[in-house]
Amino acid sequence: MNNFDYYNPVKILFGEGKIDQLSNEIPKDAKILFTYGGGSIKKNGVYDKVKSGLKGFKFFEFGGIEPNPHFETLMKAVEIVKTEKIDFLLAVGGGSVLDGTKFIAAASLFDGDPWNILEKGAKVNNALPFGTILTLPATGSEMNSGGVITKASTKVKLPFGSPLLFPKFSILDPTTTYSLPANQIANGIVDAFIHTTEQYLTYPSNSPIQDRFAEGILKTLIEIGPQAIANTEDYQTRANFMWSCTMALNGLIGTGVPSDWATHMIGHELTAFFGLDHGVTLAIVLPALLREMKDDKREKLLQFGKNVWGIENGTEDNRIDEAIIRTVSFFNSLGVKTKLSAYGITLDQLTPVFERFQSRQWKLGERKNITPNRIEVILKNCF
Ligand code: NZQ
Ligand code: ZN
Repeated sequence: MNNFDYYNPVKILFGEGKIDQLSNEIPKDAKILFTYGGGSIKKNGVYDKVKSGLKGFKFFEFGGIEPNPHFETLMKAVEIVKTEKIDFLLAVGGGSVLDGTKFIAAASLFDGDPWNILEKGAKVNNALPFGTILTLPATGSEMNSGGVITKASTKVKLPFGSPLLFPKFSILDPTTTYSLPANQIANGIVDAFIHTTEQYLTYPSNSPIQDRFAEGILKTLIEIGPQAIANTEDYQTRANFMWSCTMALNGLIGTGVPSDWATHMIGHELTAFFGLDHGVTLAIVLPALLREMKDDKREKLLQFGKNVWGIENGTEDNRIDEAIIRTVSFFNSLGVKTKLSAYGITLDQLTPVFERFQSRQWKLGERKNITPNRIEVILKNCF
């Protein structure tokens, strides 16, 4: 196991009815900006519950944070924060609203052009405090300190993070997920599954606790995924789905182990250029990446096959192939297609993606050997 520092100060309030406790978590004299997305919370009753929780507080609203939140939109919220002297943010929605609010928290107190936080990795030295109410289990943003922001004008999607960007609290009420359409539940299951594989399908590092946690999350997602999609108001399934997603990316399973994240970094370009949902991009890239990196990941792929899918017979190569096939079938069973062609994307449209990776010269993966040329091979195998 590698050395590590683990710090996660997020207070989680989990369960039905927990939004009622909102007022206890916000400082009494706070001047709040309540942020949300395109309006789902107005249809499912969450907006009204938040408004009644905020009775007696001074607050402003900022709606319209889009999926894959735009820098341009978020900078409008930064203006409101500055003009109205906001000192607390409350994000209500999915990963995009939470990530966007993290960015507002940092950008509002940033000296200089806030885009540098993304493009240059400029250090965040100050951030406004914020809390979250999650309505879409997927990203883990409710219990981590990172986010991903898109500059719409240039189609650039980049991650950022800081220890100052952990939520003060996150309210997770599984009943808020009842209104989710099936494709967003599927996206969430795939996202959490691949957050786990990014931190597990690397190389062995004598970390059996982290491996068992990761295998537990993967097996839980496989068990509950189909039920979460089929049964809209099955509380226990939604509760387990929600907590699986949080646990997949709150830092715990990543302690002391190597991590990959290449599927995510390649997937972000597919969202930036073609607007594909985040979870969809991952389901497309992961199988091709695992096939390309099969030798580097051999031992963990065999372990994944055995402990997650119960594959024990056949040659090593057969077992690895079978584990990848079972993973693809699982994504397909959730209704997520795993080929670029299924989304109408053709090989020639990938040229700007290849050019971008060539110009950045990133070397991705747990061994930093997923070069731009290799990324091209992976993407060409996504058809
Ligand atoms: O905008 P509204 O109207 O709220 O609708 C949203 C949106 O259209 C809808 N939705 C959310 N909760 C709902 C609901 N609809 C009905 N009922 C509900 N209860 O779902 C749509 C998608 O929402 P979004 O927040 O975009 O989805 P998700 O949570 O998957 O977030 C994706 C974003 O998170 C980033 C992704 O890159 C992407 O930008 N990620 C953030 C990470 C992090 N912070 O750690 C890690 C992830 O790997 C990921 O990269
Ligand atoms: Zn993700």
